[in-house]
Amino acid sequence: MKVLFYFLGLVGLLGLTLSCGTQKVKNLTVGEVWTAEPNWTGSFQGLAEGLSALLPITTNSQEFENAERRPYLIKRIERLSEISSTAKHGLSPVRPDPRFTLIGNFLPQAFQNTLAMSNLDRIDLARHSLLQITATCIECHQRSSQGPNLASPDFDRYLIQQRPLDKAEYYLAVRKFDLAREALGQVISSADEAANFFEVDRAIRYLMGIAVQFQMSSDLAEKDLQQVGADTRLPFYLRHNMNAWTEAIREWKIEKPVPLNFEYVESLIEKGAKAQAGFADRGGDIYFFRSIHHLHQLIAGQSEAEAQAPLLFLLGTAYEAIRDLGVWRSHELYFEACVRKLPKSSWSQKCFERLQHNWQENWGLDVPPSIMQRMEELRLLSI
Ligand code: HEC
Repeated sequence: MKVLFYFLGLVGLLGLTLSCGTQKVKNLTVGEVWTAEPNWTGSFQGLAEGLSALLPITTNSQEFENAERRPYLIKRIERLSEISSTAKHGLSPVRPDPRFTLIGNFLPQAFQNTLAMSNLDRIDLARHSLLQITATCIECHQRSSQGPNLASPDFDRYLIQQRPLDKAEYYLAVRKFDLAREALGQVISSADEAANFFEVDRAIRYLMGIAVQFQMSSDLAEKDLQQVGADTRLPFYLRHNMNAWTEAIREWKIEKPVPLNFEYVESLIEKGAKAQAGFADRGGDIYFFRSIHHLHQLIAGQSEAEAQAPLLFLLGTAYEAIRDLGVWRSHELYFEACVRKLPKSSWSQKCFERLQHNWQENWGLDVPPSIMQRMEELRLLSI
């Protein structure tokens, strides 16, 4: 009897915890998130709360792109953008971690870009941009066990229910690569749903990006590629890209060690551009991922603007080539950083040209006034 009592008690307790748990997950349904107004203080705390409140939408592409949500979404991004233009993070902005560049100098620009994109129906770009910003905060706070937790354990449980590509992009952005690989595997194994080849294509390229840009492993890239390549359902154009990647990995494996410098990375980028031809229009990816890895290494060791600007130009160029990989899209910020880093130089002119080209591509004739103003400011800086 006593045992039964305990048992029932345990079940009761378990039920309570479970219902609490379910309750919390339910609190994170999309509808409720939209009614909960974050506490908008004008400080980084307010920014953290605003980003955190948006996180369930930022990681749900269908909800984010839902036209009914647009006016409210834009209002919130406007508020975040406002706060970011004055609030200061409680840290010295001159620490050598490259992510400080984002929070120290480029957060207002990143928000302004996000806002302009959401105002002009480039809502997919806006979501990736917001995801990138939020993930920068989350990843660094988690890694250093400091700062507020923007992604609560409840959010983690909400995330598990999301579509595989949305999940994967979140994990990629916060650099949880094992979880990202798992979710990408789910996207790829669903390749028979003919409509989602676009997603499968992106998933395979993200896999290559993890292996090359972050793990620097030709073995892993080769293994992933062989595994994915065995799938006979993959379309023709994807196979062309994969053949080009296989070739690039083979070349990488037999490459003799050379000193890591500007010229070497420049030559990798040139090879990447050459490999991007015909049906294999993404054929240069392996070279670009390798370049990005090396450029981050090189720039971390430089403190002089004269040495940084050319590296920022190459970073912009390599990122530009992979710009359709949403969560890694950052070429515009690097080109802008280059102009600001070394104004009135041949590098600032080159970078401004690329920036202008990209902005025209993004906005066409419809450049929002805030962006127009920034473009003029940068043009004057560059020449
Ligand atoms: C490169 C690492 C890094 C990044 C990126 C980062 N933080 Fe932090 N953050 C920290 C550390 C370390 C602390 C604790 C030390 C401190 O309070 O100064 C902190 C503290 C904070 C605090 C509490 C102190 C304060 O300034 O109010 C807030 C709020 C905060 N971060 C928000 C953010 C937001 C929002 C972002 C993204 C836009 C972000 N952080 C990005 C490392 C980072």
